[in-house]
Amino acid sequence: MTNISAAITAVGGYVPEFILTNQILETMVDTNDDWITSRTGIKERRILKGDNKGTSFMAIQAAKDLIQKNNLDPKTIDLVVVATATPDMKAASTSAYTASEIGATNAFAFDVDAACSSFLFGMSIVARYIETGIYKKVLLIGADKNSSMINYEDRATCIIFGDGAGAVLFEPNQEGLGMQDEYLRSDGAGREFLRGTHGGSSNAITEKSLKEKNHFIYQDGKTVFKNAVFNMADAAVKILDRNNLDNDQVDWLVAHQANKRIIDATANRINLDPKKVMMNIEKYGNTTSGTLPLLLSDYESKLKKGDNLIFAAFGGGFNWGSIYLKWAYTS
Ligand code: UT7
Repeated sequence: MTNISAAITAVGGYVPEFILTNQILETMVDTNDDWITSRTGIKERRILKGDNKGTSFMAIQAAKDLIQKNNLDPKTIDLVVVATATPDMKAASTSAYTASEIGATNAFAFDVDAACSSFLFGMSIVARYIETGIYKKVLLIGADKNSSMINYEDRATCIIFGDGAGAVLFEPNQEGLGMQDEYLRSDGAGREFLRGTHGGSSNAITEKSLKEKNHFIYQDGKTVFKNAVFNMADAAVKILDRNNLDNDQVDWLVAHQANKRIIDATANRINLDPKKVMMNIEKYGNTTSGTLPLLLSDYESKLKKGDNLIFAAFGGGFNWGSIYLKWAYTS
């Protein structure tokens, strides 16, 4: 083991301009603002419009936001990882294109997909690259164009998901800041409850599957909800216990934004003051890999060097976990 830890040293974010409000959804499916707000906490979400614009469009904008705010020379970036469940295309990695478009010409790049836990698992991966001492600047981007896999006639999914992206830079730290501990888990028994069955390698898209809309995402919301509440909270408790942290020592809960009730349940389980719970679900809905870095981007000005952040996420697969990170700068 080295004494190098992986710290977040910069953040950026991007959401598309088009706002899909609950009021607009009322005209599309049998739902209403009261139901959506009370059951999920969501008021509006962003949707990426425009031909040929995929996840990379948002990943690039989020990365450029980080680069410009921090005067970063993109040629100094060693690695670009794009966490996404909605890559631009098959085979051609979204990250390689993203890296080239932002001018990270000395970097290698790859994608990570663990559904809504993609960014959380990505944090674990890039931390290992930094801890070796070999890589000095690693850009981790969480981006998803969920609107590309949503059936806007299905009220169980279309009310929750939105599009967006966030980016963070990881650098080595020798003051004990950055990544401290992680608890990550997967259970494939969960894949029946949140999935798009056609268009991947097991089932090709056919005329029949298109008619049945099986290329879109289906979720058994109740089962996903129950598992998310239990596992996200359980992972956060394990991380706190393992690190002898009590709730007073936690400065922020950075939880995946899928449903406000899931986030509240996690915060309650660790007895956390609601003021310490980052929340932007009302504006963006569930942006899958975008939720955690977009929270950091929105809350960056409130974060102080040394703050204890507890990350938590749960998503399709099932994949879930929690990460303990000490914030490395005051902006
Ligand atoms: O990122 C990880 C992946 N996703 C998640 O973590 C999402 C987890 N699940 C959820 O957030 C929630 O299950 C939903 C928001 C999807 C649904 O909320 P719920 O409280 O679990 O609702 P439900 O499916 O149990 O439905 C309750 C009632 C039903 O009516 P009846 O049978 O009680 O008369 C539904 O038909 O609400 C009805 N309903 C709706 N009503 C208005 C379901 N969806 C809607 C809707 N608008 N959009």
